[in-house]
Amino acid sequence: IYEQPESVVNTMRGRVNFENHEVTLGGLRGFTHIIRRARRIIFIACGTSYHSCLATRSIFEELNQIGTQAELASDFLDRASPIFRDDVCVFVSQSGETADTILAMRYCLERGALCVGVTNTVGSSISRETHCGVHINAGPEIGVASTKAYTSQYIALVMMALQLAEDTTSTKQRREEIIDGLYRLPGHIKEVLAIDGKLQQLAVDQLAHEKSLLILGRGYQNATCLEGALKIKEISYIHSEGILAGELKHGPLAL
Ligand code: UD1
Ligand code: F6R
Repeated sequence: IYEQPESVVNTMRGRVNFENHEVTLGGLRGFTHIIRRARRIIFIACGTSYHSCLATRSIFEELNQIGTQAELASDFLDRASPIFRDDVCVFVSQSGETADTILAMRYCLERGALCVGVTNTVGSSISRETHCGVHINAGPEIGVASTKAYTSQYIALVMMALQLAEDTTSTKQRREEIIDGLYRLPGHIKEVLAIDGKLQQLAVDQLAHEKSLLILGRGYQNATCLEGALKIKEISYIHSEGILAGELKHGPLAL
């Protein structure tokens, strides 16, 4: 968690030009024209990596006007979901070795879709077997619970959406705003980490003895809620659920 001011910079290093507002992902050059023509973009991942797909799906739809869906690899395989040659399938995995994600990648490769990897591990199965991709360069994720990999996956996917949209003049201002936001990000992360003492006190005084924590948000923050709940379960062993605030009336209020 405390490495994030540096790890997010490493993900963007040599790839984002903050002065010209340009993004260059070397691994996708030569493939962007195919991705732009895709009928659908389908993200496939597990756990935290799935949450980074959910978090960035709307940026892809907004900037590129391509239908974008996010799939849990296990469910995608259970359904034997139809995949076509003009689909672009993006496999997001910190380790690049998660069994369900690998099986889903091989399923999509067999069906002729362009397969793109977004992984932290150079030389992993997903890094090697996908047609192209992006290494997130977050550094080794040693803890079992994925933390800095989440923010770096998020940034890698935002950079991908920006690069795909680079030729559209109608989104120019919005893309510049996003790139300016990326520039400010390490500073924002430092601000949050600087109040860790207060946050710890809040956790000890008010949350640690609760049986269940419900985390509510909507829009961009839906994925934050799901990811927060996953981290609380894994680290604190407290039941926690991330809930889309728009669904408040459908169960959560009763609870
Ligand atoms: C690459 C070099 C980097 C160097 C930079 C200089 C590697 C691993 N990266 O980074 O050390 O500083 O050029 O310009 O040597 N790929 C996949 N699937 C994936 C991830 C990546 O096929 O899941 C492919 C990419 O399409 C690309 C290659 O692996 O061909 C390297 O990807 P990446 O490290 O993201 O590329 P660069 O950022 O250009
Ligand atoms: C959560 C966590 C797991 C992984 C999941 C996918 O903190 O670490 O849920 O996110 O196992 O792993 P990767 O990203 O390696 O495919």
